[in-house]
Amino acid sequence: MRRAIVRGTGHYLPERVIENSWFEDKLDTSDEWIRTRTGIERRHFAAEGQRTSDLGILAARAALDKAGIAADQIDAVIVATSTPDLTFPSVATMVQAGLGMRGGFAYDLQAVCAGFVYALANADAMIRAGLAERVLVIGAETFSRIMDWTDRGTCVLFGDGAGAVVLEAAEGDGTSADCGILATDLNSDGQYRDLLYVDGGVASTGTAGHLRMQGNLVFRHAVEKLADTAHRALDKAGLTPEDVSWLVPHQANLRIIEATAKRMHLPMAKVVLTVADHGNTSAASIPLALSVADAEGRFKPGDVLVAEAIGGGLAWGSVVLRW
Ligand code: ACO
Repeated sequence: MRRAIVRGTGHYLPERVIENSWFEDKLDTSDEWIRTRTGIERRHFAAEGQRTSDLGILAARAALDKAGIAADQIDAVIVATSTPDLTFPSVATMVQAGLGMRGGFAYDLQAVCAGFVYALANADAMIRAGLAERVLVIGAETFSRIMDWTDRGTCVLFGDGAGAVVLEAAEGDGTSADCGILATDLNSDGQYRDLLYVDGGVASTGTAGHLRMQGNLVFRHAVEKLADTAHRALDKAGLTPEDVSWLVPHQANLRIIEATAKRMHLPMAKVVLTVADHGNTSAASIPLALSVADAEGRFKPGDVLVAEAIGGGLAWGSVVLRW
Protein backbone atom coordinates (compact mmCIF):
# COMPACT_ATOMS: atom_id res chain seq x y z
CA MET A 1 0.00 0.00 0.00
CA ARG A 2 1.48 3.34 -1.06
CA ARG A 3 2.19 5.92 1.62
CA ALA A 4 3.55 9.48 1.48
CA ILE A 5 6.62 9.69 3.74
CA VAL A 6 8.43 12.85 4.82
CA ARG A 7 11.89 12.99 3.25
CA GLY A 8 12.90 16.49 4.33
CA THR A 9 11.73 19.78 5.84
CA GLY A 10 12.98 23.34 5.45
CA HIS A 11 11.97 26.91 6.20
CA TYR A 12 12.77 30.53 5.62
CA LEU A 13 12.01 33.53 7.83
CA PRO A 14 12.59 37.11 6.60
CA GLU A 15 15.49 38.90 8.34
CA ARG A 16 13.41 41.75 9.75
CA VAL A 17 12.28 40.85 13.30
CA ILE A 18 9.52 42.94 14.88
CA GLU A 19 9.26 42.78 18.68
CA ASN A 20 5.89 43.44 20.37
CA SER A 21 7.24 46.75 21.68
CA TRP A 22 7.36 48.03 18.05
CA PHE A 23 3.56 48.42 18.17
CA GLU A 24 3.48 50.34 21.46
CA ASP A 25 4.00 53.84 20.04
CA LYS A 26 1.73 53.17 17.04
CA LEU A 27 -1.34 51.70 18.74
CA ASP A 28 -3.07 51.53 22.12
CA THR A 29 -1.45 48.17 22.96
CA SER A 30 1.41 46.73 25.00
CA ASP A 31 3.96 43.96 24.92
CA GLU A 32 2.29 42.63 28.07
CA TRP A 33 -1.22 42.45 26.46
CA ILE A 34 0.09 40.71 23.35
CA ARG A 35 2.19 38.21 25.33
CA THR A 36 -0.48 37.28 27.85
CA ARG A 37 -3.42 37.12 25.38
CA THR A 38 -1.60 35.38 22.52
CA GLY A 39 1.84 34.05 23.57
CA ILE A 40 3.37 36.06 20.70
CA GLU A 41 6.64 37.92 21.47
CA ARG A 42 7.94 38.74 18.01
CA ARG A 43 7.32 38.05 14.33
CA HIS A 44 9.20 38.44 11.03
CA PHE A 45 8.13 40.86 8.30
CA ALA A 46 9.18 40.51 4.66
CA ALA A 47 11.39 43.30 3.31
CA GLU A 48 10.02 45.76 0.79
CA GLY A 49 9.83 43.99 -2.55
CA GLN A 50 10.18 40.54 -1.01
CA ARG A 51 7.31 38.41 -2.28
CA THR A 52 5.61 35.23 -1.11
CA SER A 53 7.28 33.26 -3.92
CA ASP A 54 10.73 34.49 -2.76
CA LEU A 55 10.05 33.07 0.71
CA GLY A 56 8.65 29.85 -0.76
CA ILE A 57 11.68 29.28 -3.00
CA LEU A 58 14.11 29.64 -0.08
CA ALA A 59 12.09 27.26 2.12
CA ALA A 60 11.81 24.77 -0.76
CA ARG A 61 15.57 24.80 -1.40
CA ALA A 62 16.22 24.12 2.29
CA ALA A 63 13.78 21.16 2.29
CA LEU A 64 15.24 19.70 -0.92
CA ASP A 65 18.78 20.00 0.53
CA LYS A 66 17.68 18.24 3.72
CA ALA A 67 15.99 15.48 1.70
CA GLY A 68 18.99 15.09 -0.63
CA ILE A 69 16.58 15.31 -3.57
CA ALA A 70 17.17 17.45 -6.67
CA ALA A 71 14.44 19.83 -7.86
CA ASP A 72 14.12 17.97 -11.18
CA GLN A 73 13.14 14.81 -9.28
CA ILE A 74 9.98 16.54 -7.98
CA ASP A 75 6.72 15.70 -9.80
CA ALA A 76 4.44 18.28 -8.19
CA VAL A 77 4.69 21.54 -6.25
CA ILE A 78 1.75 22.65 -4.11
CA VAL A 79 1.87 26.05 -2.43
CA ALA A 80 -0.66 26.79 0.28
CA THR A 81 -1.07 30.56 0.43
CA SER A 82 -3.65 33.34 0.78
CA THR A 83 -1.15 36.07 -0.07
CA PRO A 84 -0.02 35.28 -3.65
CA ASP A 85 2.38 37.61 -5.47
CA LEU A 86 -0.16 38.12 -8.27
CA THR A 87 -3.71 37.01 -9.02
CA PHE A 88 -2.08 34.62 -11.46
CA PRO A 89 0.07 32.74 -12.31
CA SER A 90 0.25 30.69 -9.15
CA VAL A 91 3.00 31.14 -6.60
CA ALA A 92 3.68 27.42 -7.13
CA THR A 93 4.69 27.92 -10.78
CA MET A 94 6.94 30.81 -9.69
CA VAL A 95 8.56 28.49 -7.14
CA GLN A 96 8.87 25.82 -9.85
CA ALA A 97 10.70 28.30 -12.11
CA GLY A 98 12.80 29.60 -9.20
CA LEU A 99 13.99 26.07 -8.47
CA GLY A 100 14.94 25.59 -12.13
CA MET A 101 12.34 22.83 -12.66
CA ARG A 102 11.16 22.37 -16.25
CA GLY A 103 8.90 19.34 -15.65
CA GLY A 104 6.12 18.30 -13.33
CA PHE A 105 3.13 20.43 -12.39
CA ALA A 106 2.48 23.14 -9.84
CA TYR A 107 -0.57 24.80 -8.31
CA ASP A 108 -1.70 26.93 -5.38
CA LEU A 109 -4.20 25.88 -2.77
CA GLN A 110 -6.12 28.38 -0.65
CA ALA A 111 -7.61 27.33 2.67
CA VAL A 112 -6.16 30.23 4.71
CA CYS A 113 -4.59 28.98 7.97
CA ALA A 114 -5.71 25.41 7.25
CA GLY A 115 -3.98 25.58 3.84
CA PHE A 116 -0.95 23.46 4.71
CA VAL A 117 -3.08 20.68 6.21
CA TYR A 118 -5.25 20.73 3.07
CA ALA A 119 -2.12 20.68 0.88
CA LEU A 120 -0.66 17.69 2.76
CA ALA A 121 -3.98 15.84 2.30
CA ASN A 122 -3.91 16.71 -1.43
CA ALA A 123 -0.32 15.52 -1.83
CA ASP A 124 -1.06 12.34 0.11
CA ALA A 125 -4.04 11.55 -2.13
CA MET A 126 -1.98 12.17 -5.28
CA ILE A 127 0.83 9.94 -4.07
CA ARG A 128 -1.57 7.15 -3.05
CA ALA A 129 -3.31 7.39 -6.44
CA GLY A 130 0.01 7.10 -8.29
CA LEU A 131 -0.23 10.60 -9.80
CA ALA A 132 3.14 11.59 -8.30
CA GLU A 133 6.19 10.00 -6.65
CA ARG A 134 7.62 13.11 -4.99
CA VAL A 135 5.68 16.21 -4.01
CA LEU A 136 7.02 19.46 -2.62
CA VAL A 137 4.42 20.92 -0.23
CA ILE A 138 4.97 24.53 0.78
CA GLY A 139 3.16 26.99 3.04
CA ALA A 140 4.24 30.57 2.26
CA GLU A 141 2.68 33.83 3.39
CA THR A 142 3.22 37.58 3.58
CA PHE A 143 0.27 38.52 5.82
CA SER A 144 2.00 41.81 6.66
CA ARG A 145 0.71 42.96 3.23
CA ILE A 146 -2.97 42.65 4.24
CA MET A 147 -2.87 44.13 7.73
CA ASP A 148 -4.92 47.14 8.76
CA TRP A 149 -2.24 48.87 10.87
CA THR A 150 -4.91 50.79 12.78
CA ASP A 151 -6.66 47.59 13.99
CA ARG A 152 -4.94 46.47 17.19
CA GLY A 153 -7.12 43.34 17.31
CA THR A 154 -5.43 41.87 14.21
CA CYS A 155 -2.19 43.59 13.16
CA VAL A 156 -0.22 42.45 16.23
CA LEU A 157 -1.01 38.78 15.54
CA PHE A 158 0.49 37.97 12.15
CA GLY A 159 3.94 37.43 10.65
CA ASP A 160 5.57 36.41 7.36
CA GLY A 161 7.48 33.21 6.53
CA ALA A 162 7.55 29.94 4.63
CA GLY A 163 8.02 26.26 5.38
CA ALA A 164 8.31 23.26 3.07
CA VAL A 165 8.14 19.49 3.21
CA VAL A 166 9.29 16.95 0.61
CA LEU A 167 6.98 13.91 0.45
CA GLU A 168 7.92 10.70 -1.35
CA ALA A 169 5.99 7.52 -2.16
CA ALA A 170 6.94 4.42 -0.18
CA GLU A 171 5.43 0.99 0.19
CA GLY A 172 3.83 0.22 3.54
CA ASP A 173 1.70 -2.66 4.78
CA GLY A 174 -1.35 -0.44 5.31
CA THR A 175 -1.24 -0.58 9.12
CA SER A 176 -0.81 2.22 11.66
CA ALA A 177 2.79 0.98 12.14
CA ASP A 178 3.68 2.35 8.68
CA CYS A 179 5.73 5.53 8.35
CA GLY A 180 4.26 8.50 6.51
CA ILE A 181 0.82 10.07 6.37
CA LEU A 182 -1.64 7.71 8.06
CA ALA A 183 -4.87 9.74 7.96
CA THR A 184 -6.28 13.15 7.12
CA ASP A 185 -9.48 14.95 8.11
CA LEU A 186 -10.70 18.08 6.26
CA ASN A 187 -13.70 20.28 7.06
CA SER A 188 -15.16 23.64 6.09
CA ASP A 189 -18.35 25.58 6.79
CA GLY A 190 -18.94 28.66 4.66
CA GLN A 191 -21.68 30.06 6.90
CA TYR A 192 -18.90 31.46 9.10
CA ARG A 193 -17.49 33.66 6.32
CA ASP A 194 -17.87 36.90 8.26
CA LEU A 195 -15.81 35.75 11.26
CA LEU A 196 -12.54 35.98 9.37
CA TYR A 197 -12.07 37.39 5.86
CA VAL A 198 -10.20 39.90 3.70
CA ASP A 199 -12.39 42.82 2.57
CA GLY A 200 -10.97 43.04 -0.95
CA GLY A 201 -10.39 41.01 -4.09
CA VAL A 202 -10.28 41.24 -7.89
CA ALA A 203 -13.98 40.43 -8.39
CA SER A 204 -15.31 42.66 -5.62
CA THR A 205 -13.37 45.81 -4.77
CA GLY A 206 -10.45 45.46 -7.16
CA THR A 207 -8.12 46.01 -4.20
CA ALA A 208 -6.07 43.62 -2.10
CA GLY A 209 -8.09 44.50 1.02
CA HIS A 210 -7.35 44.03 4.70
CA LEU A 211 -7.85 41.14 7.09
CA ARG A 212 -10.96 41.42 9.29
CA MET A 213 -11.58 39.11 12.22
CA GLN A 214 -14.00 38.62 15.08
CA GLY A 215 -11.20 37.17 17.17
CA ASN A 216 -13.17 36.00 20.18
CA LEU A 217 -15.67 34.06 18.01
CA VAL A 218 -12.87 32.48 15.95
CA PHE A 219 -11.22 31.58 19.25
CA ARG A 220 -14.33 29.69 20.44
CA HIS A 221 -14.68 27.75 17.17
CA ALA A 222 -10.97 26.92 17.21
CA VAL A 223 -11.00 25.42 20.69
CA GLU A 224 -13.98 23.21 19.86
CA LYS A 225 -13.19 22.21 16.27
CA LEU A 226 -9.42 21.54 16.48
CA ALA A 227 -9.62 18.82 19.11
CA ASP A 228 -12.58 17.27 17.25
CA THR A 229 -10.74 17.03 13.92
CA ALA A 230 -7.59 15.69 15.61
CA HIS A 231 -9.61 12.97 17.35
CA ARG A 232 -11.32 12.06 14.05
CA ALA A 233 -8.03 11.78 12.16
CA LEU A 234 -6.49 9.66 14.93
CA ASP A 235 -9.55 7.42 14.87
CA LYS A 236 -9.21 7.00 11.07
CA ALA A 237 -5.57 6.01 11.62
CA GLY A 238 -6.55 3.44 14.25
CA LEU A 239 -4.74 5.42 16.95
CA THR A 240 -5.70 7.27 20.14
CA PRO A 241 -4.32 10.46 21.76
CA GLU A 242 -2.18 8.20 23.97
CA ASP A 243 -0.23 7.19 20.85
CA VAL A 244 0.62 10.81 19.99
CA SER A 245 4.30 11.78 20.37
CA TRP A 246 3.94 15.37 19.09
CA LEU A 247 1.14 17.82 18.46
CA VAL A 248 2.23 20.28 15.74
CA PRO A 249 -0.57 22.86 15.84
CA HIS A 250 -1.26 25.93 13.75
CA GLN A 251 0.47 28.69 15.69
CA ALA A 252 -2.23 31.35 16.10
CA ASN A 253 -2.55 31.76 19.82
CA LEU A 254 -0.91 29.95 22.76
CA ARG A 255 -4.22 29.82 24.64
CA ILE A 256 -5.94 28.00 21.73
CA ILE A 257 -3.02 25.56 21.54
CA GLU A 258 -3.15 24.90 25.30
CA ALA A 259 -6.93 24.37 25.22
CA THR A 260 -6.59 21.92 22.29
CA ALA A 261 -3.81 19.98 24.04
CA LYS A 262 -5.93 19.81 27.20
CA ARG A 263 -8.93 18.46 25.27
CA MET A 264 -6.64 15.80 23.81
CA HIS A 265 -5.15 15.04 27.27
CA LEU A 266 -1.67 15.85 25.94
CA PRO A 267 0.97 17.49 28.17
CA MET A 268 2.46 20.72 26.75
CA ALA A 269 5.86 18.92 26.66
CA LYS A 270 4.47 17.07 23.60
CA VAL A 271 3.47 20.26 21.77
CA VAL A 272 5.73 22.01 19.25
CA LEU A 273 5.55 25.77 19.93
CA THR A 274 6.88 28.50 17.65
CA VAL A 275 4.12 31.08 18.15
CA ALA A 276 6.32 33.22 20.45
CA ASP A 277 8.93 33.81 17.73
CA HIS A 278 6.85 33.65 14.54
CA GLY A 279 3.37 34.92 15.41
CA ASN A 280 0.57 33.63 13.18
CA THR A 281 2.02 32.94 9.72
CA SER A 282 -1.24 31.36 8.45
CA ALA A 283 -0.52 28.48 6.03
CA ALA A 284 3.21 28.71 6.77
CA SER A 285 2.90 28.12 10.49
CA ILE A 286 2.75 24.30 10.56
CA PRO A 287 5.58 23.67 8.06
CA LEU A 288 7.65 26.29 9.92
CA ALA A 289 7.01 24.48 13.22
CA LEU A 290 7.76 21.10 11.63
CA SER A 291 11.02 22.34 10.15
CA VAL A 292 12.21 24.11 13.31
CA ALA A 293 11.50 21.02 15.48
CA ASP A 294 13.06 18.71 12.87
CA ALA A 295 16.21 20.86 12.74
CA GLU A 296 16.42 20.58 16.55
CA GLY A 297 16.28 16.76 16.20
CA ARG A 298 13.10 16.50 18.26
CA PHE A 299 11.31 13.92 16.09
CA LYS A 300 12.50 10.28 16.34
CA PRO A 301 11.72 7.50 13.84
CA GLY A 302 8.34 5.99 14.74
CA ASP A 303 7.01 9.14 16.45
CA VAL A 304 3.34 9.88 15.77
CA LEU A 305 2.71 13.53 14.83
CA VAL A 306 -0.66 15.27 14.66
CA ALA A 307 -0.86 18.58 12.75
CA GLU A 308 -4.08 20.61 13.03
CA ALA A 309 -5.26 24.05 11.89
CA ILE A 310 -8.30 26.30 11.51
CA GLY A 311 -8.71 29.52 9.58
CA GLY A 312 -10.90 31.67 7.36
CA GLY A 313 -13.86 29.92 5.76
CA LEU A 314 -14.09 28.58 8.31
CA ALA A 315 -11.85 25.77 7.08
CA TRP A 316 -10.13 23.34 9.42
CA GLY A 317 -8.50 19.91 9.45
CA SER A 318 -5.75 17.65 10.67
CA VAL A 319 -3.13 15.17 9.50
CA VAL A 320 -1.71 12.19 11.39
CA LEU A 321 1.69 10.93 10.30
CA ARG A 322 4.35 8.59 11.56
CA TRP A 323 7.87 10.07 11.33
N1 ACO B 1 -3.87 45.42 22.62
C1 ACO B 1 -4.66 45.80 23.65
N2 ACO B 1 -5.96 45.52 23.71
C2 ACO B 1 -6.51 44.82 22.69
C3 ACO B 1 -5.74 44.41 21.58
C4 ACO B 1 -4.38 44.74 21.57
N3 ACO B 1 -3.55 44.39 20.56
N4 ACO B 1 -6.55 43.75 20.73
C5 ACO B 1 -7.79 43.74 21.27
N5 ACO B 1 -7.76 44.41 22.45
C6 ACO B 1 -8.86 44.67 23.38
C7 ACO B 1 -10.21 44.67 22.71
O1 ACO B 1 -10.47 45.90 22.09
C8 ACO B 1 -11.12 44.41 23.88
O2 ACO B 1 -11.31 45.63 24.57
P1 ACO B 1 -12.74 46.00 25.19
O3 ACO B 1 -13.01 44.92 26.23
O4 ACO B 1 -12.50 47.36 25.77
O5 ACO B 1 -13.69 45.97 24.04
C9 ACO B 1 -10.30 43.49 24.77
O6 ACO B 1 -8.92 43.62 24.33
C10 ACO B 1 -10.71 42.04 24.68
O7 ACO B 1 -10.88 41.71 23.29
P2 ACO B 1 -11.16 40.24 22.81
O8 ACO B 1 -11.21 40.23 21.32
O9 ACO B 1 -12.32 39.67 23.58
O10 ACO B 1 -9.81 39.55 23.33
P3 ACO B 1 -9.42 38.04 23.33
O11 ACO B 1 -9.00 37.62 24.66
O12 ACO B 1 -10.43 37.22 22.58
O13 ACO B 1 -8.10 38.07 22.44
C11 ACO B 1 -7.42 37.57 20.19
C12 ACO B 1 -8.13 38.55 21.12
C13 ACO B 1 -5.97 37.47 20.61
C14 ACO B 1 -7.53 38.11 18.77
C15 ACO B 1 -8.09 36.19 20.29
O14 ACO B 1 -9.46 36.32 20.18
C16 ACO B 1 -7.61 35.22 19.24
O15 ACO B 1 -6.47 34.82 19.23
N6 ACO B 1 -8.53 34.78 18.38
C17 ACO B 1 -8.25 33.76 17.39
C18 ACO B 1 -7.34 34.23 16.31
C19 ACO B 1 -7.15 33.07 15.36
O16 ACO B 1 -6.83 31.98 15.77
N7 ACO B 1 -7.42 33.28 14.10
C20 ACO B 1 -7.52 32.12 13.23
C21 ACO B 1 -6.45 31.91 12.38
S1 ACO B 1 -6.08 33.28 11.38
C22 ACO B 1 -6.41 32.90 9.73
O17 ACO B 1 -7.04 31.95 9.37
C23 ACO B 1 -5.94 33.92 8.74
